[in-house]
Amino acid sequence: MLWEGRQITMTPMIPTFLYGTAWKEDDTERCVRLAIEAGFRGIDTANQRRHYFEAAVGAAVKASGVSREQLFLQTKFTYIDSQDHRLPYDPNADVAMQVRQSFASSLEHLQVDAIDSYVLHGPSRRHGLSQDDLDVWRAMEELHDAQKTRFLGVSNVALDQLELLCAEARVQPRFVQNRCFARTMWDRDVRRFCRARGIVYQGFSLLTANVAELRTRAFREIVERTGMTPAQVVFCFAQQVGMLPLTGTTDPSHMREDLAAERFELSADDLRLMETIAQA
Ligand SMILES: NC(=O)c1ccc[n+]([C@@H]2O[C@H](COP(=O)([O-])OP(=O)(O)OC[C@H]3O[C@@H](n4cnc5c(N)ncnc54)[C@H](OP(=O)(O)O)[C@@H]3O)[C@@H](O)[C@H]2O)c1
Repeated sequence: MLWEGRQITMTPMIPTFLYGTAWKEDDTERCVRLAIEAGFRGIDTANQRRHYFEAAVGAAVKASGVSREQLFLQTKFTYIDSQDHRLPYDPNADVAMQVRQSFASSLEHLQVDAIDSYVLHGPSRRHGLSQDDLDVWRAMEELHDAQKTRFLGVSNVALDQLELLCAEARVQPRFVQNRCFARTMWDRDVRRFCRARGIVYQGFSLLTANVAELRTRAFREIVERTGMTPAQVVFCFAQQVGMLPLTGTTDPSHMREDLAAERFELSADDLRLMETIAQA
């Protein structure tokens, strides 16, 4: 059963919603401040200046006045192929050193001593894992050993890669962060594996990757039946099937709307409809 409730994301100190900080450039600090004011306590970023502005996230966190213990901060190590010229590490260093340098720079940007979750932004290749991926994970494990990060995670992974990583890892991933398409039954196979391993599945692009599905009659009927907004239906569904959703909205009213999704409950029938909405 996929609709087993929200218990997976109810682990203490892991929030039920993450605010995503990609693509906001000079508006990053303002948006993160608004998100924290709206009630978000989990923030996702990356030390990848091409898509994120991690130092602005740190400035917003500091200015928010919310204590460090009340916030869940997640950032990522990104390979050179997905960076632009603004690298957070020496391009000539080996990948383990790059992880250490990137992480040290993240702590500076975020103005903290430790983070909650450190995520490998994506494996170095589309299929399988490379020696670099394993070396990166070992370096991440050392950061975990040193209590510099409470959890480790991996993003943009296929099931076979996740299985391999779990087989090789001494410190198991606690999070998977993937783009979540309704047409794959919302990444069903990866989510199933995660649930069996106690890994929390973080879903992104829940609205933007599923535009056609959210236009179907079946979806519109759920919206009408429940009185939720379309975004709330998607986020409520995600949370009820055990996902930790991300939103990167820049609109304060959408921020409040998204957070309010957890006050609703979809029926078992509507959860089933949502699971297969791409086939509707
Ligand atoms: N690991 C990775 O490789 C990866 C890749 C992509 C994203 N991410 C993470 O995921 C975060 C979220 O990214 P995303 O791809 O899910 O897209 P997003 O940045 O959250 O974009 C959502 C879009 O939907 C719109 N929207 C309309 N109504 C909304 C509502 N009620 N609530 C929320 N949005 C609404 C937003 O517009 P308004 O601004 O007008 O609300 C926005 O254009 C990123 O910031 C990043 O942290 C990670």
